[in-house]
Amino acid sequence: MSLANSGIMYLMAKSILVANWKNHPSSIDEVRILLSQMAKKGVLYKKLSLFIAPPLPYFESVKTRAKTFSSLASQDIFVAPGASSYTSQVTPDILKSFGVKLSIIGHSERRALGESSVDVSKKVRAAISAGIIALVCVGESSRDKDGLYYETLRDQIKASLADLNDKKDVAKVMVAYEPVWAIGKGAEAIDPTDLSQSVIFIRKVLTDMFGRELAQKVSILYGGSVDASNAPTLVEKTGIKGFLVGRASLKAKDFRPIAEALIAK
Ligand code: PGA
Repeated sequence: MSLANSGIMYLMAKSILVANWKNHPSSIDEVRILLSQMAKKGVLYKKLSLFIAPPLPYFESVKTRAKTFSSLASQDIFVAPGASSYTSQVTPDILKSFGVKLSIIGHSERRALGESSVDVSKKVRAAISAGIIALVCVGESSRDKDGLYYETLRDQIKASLADLNDKKDVAKVMVAYEPVWAIGKGAEAIDPTDLSQSVIFIRKVLTDMFGRELAQKVSILYGGSVDASNAPTLVEKTGIKGFLVGRASLKAKDFRPIAEALIAK
């Protein structure tokens, strides 16, 4: 196993917590405050694999101020369609040069902008080729009582992971189950029983695609309105390996109890 691969495997062995800052905080001064508050609990965060995915202009600040207790992550990855120049885009090589260890790929807010599962599958391959963990987001927009949303989930997983060159690369992929209806302001996190069923279903789809042994290596995270109040129950009662957190990752006092819930597992 190469050194890069063993580093990835090490990061995937512990409980996983991913802070998806999206387009926040609104200034670099707020970033500095948030990071210095988080650093006070650095010892706690080191007990898990914490990834921080900030807006790109904050990369250097996060890299410098949070390097002792977290790894840098990106909220997307760009795959150039050809050898040319692409104003505004950031390639896997650039991310890699910053020490990015994980890329969030196919977040529902990017899919809403037109990103398809085919695009996602190319990005997954690009991330893995660059030695970056691909955190693939999947999730239904709404639920129906007949359970047809499971079909959506299956289709998304199959199409998003269709482009893996080598099936063994599935061990460098994580899946974030993020039902769209559970994300963002005003939404509520999923019921733990429903989450358990979705985790079992996702594992079954992965098993059908890659076989049991490889499918077991894929960490399944949950995202969508995770906060201090629901994190302990979601950790305890479902088969998840960690969380992808939006709003609650923007305040140190809201984020810390989520980490504690994962550590207590
Ligand atoms: P939320 O966002 O925690 O604010 O619901 C999660 C996400 O979009 O990844």
